[in-house]
Amino acid sequence: MALLKILRYPDPRLHKVAKPVTEFGTERLRKLVADMAETMYDAPGVGLAATQVDVHERVVTIDVTEDQSQLLVFVNPEIVWASEEKQVYDEGCLSVPGIYDGVERPARVKVRAFDADGKEFEIEADGLLAVCIQHEMDHLMGKVFVEYLSPLKRNRIKAKLQKEERGMERDAAQRAGGRR
Ligand code: NI
Repeated sequence: MALLKILRYPDPRLHKVAKPVTEFGTERLRKLVADMAETMYDAPGVGLAATQVDVHERVVTIDVTEDQSQLLVFVNPEIVWASEEKQVYDEGCLSVPGIYDGVERPARVKVRAFDADGKEFEIEADGLLAVCIQHEMDHLMGKVFVEYLSPLKRNRIKAKLQKEERGMERDAAQRAGGRR
């Protein structure tokens, strides 16, 4: 297994639309799922979409338990039903570190998906799991949660993260320079 690099907003690759997986049960898909789970747990985060690790296929890993004991894998997930009732939840994202803000979404959803071996299943979710599934499925469509916020907030977040990114690059350059 290996830790994967998580793309940071506003990286344009976060806006690519993922393609459905067509081959199940392969070594490649198993490794992708295992690496995504390891990366998600290490971060630590409650969900990760393949888009965030620059793999543009419809694969999501989620674990909303505190002790990281219930890994859920969704391949080619589709929302087949969403409640009219909405809930607002303070969302965060591994691609938007340090930023949390309220997003309104359906409170309950029913999702149909496949596991890595191609076995179909359905799950009905509420609470944090419902939030997480919808948030990760947005990633597969190239959408990051900050796009639900006002343009003013979004631009502020973009500027903050770009500034941090430049700082990290400068630090890396200085470290490299110091080794000379
Ligand atoms: Ni996210």
